[in-house]
Amino acid sequence: MSTTAAPHDPAEISAIIQSHVHREGPLLPILHGMQAAFGYIPDAARAPIADALNITEAELHGVISFYHDFRREPAGRHVLKICRAEACQAVGGNVVGEDVLGKLGLDWHETSADGRVTVEPVYCLGLCACGPAAMVNDQVRGRVTADALVAEVSP
Ligand code: FES
Repeated sequence: MSTTAAPHDPAEISAIIQSHVHREGPLLPILHGMQAAFGYIPDAARAPIADALNITEAELHGVISFYHDFRREPAGRHVLKICRAEACQAVGGNVVGEDVLGKLGLDWHETSADGRVTVEPVYCLGLCACGPAAMVNDQVRGRVTADALVAEVSP
């Protein structure tokens, strides 16, 4: 995430759009660029993206909503991704996920009120043999428990 630019810096938004707009299929690269720069897709970026690509904001919203990786709000200081794909579900990943959400008082995609943690679902981390699997701040974890995951994102 960029630490120098304001989250809604129009110049940076424009620069990201311009760096991809001439590519074939520019929308996803632009959205990934926004998320890399800001940590999420700022609302302020929506109109400029739609204008540049000659699409409606409704179409843009549909794409952002379709891909779970795109955040619509800033994430917490810790990002906890819990695998919800089949192999992990078969070894209790669904229970781990529900336990974590219950212990943190959150739902999927929510961030705690103190900005400490965001919990997101993910659909396979390539650690299927070590499920249930999760990712804590971009580091993978195998055979996780809810208690261990919550401890990792605790103050
Ligand atoms: S199914 Fe969870 S890591 Fe593959």
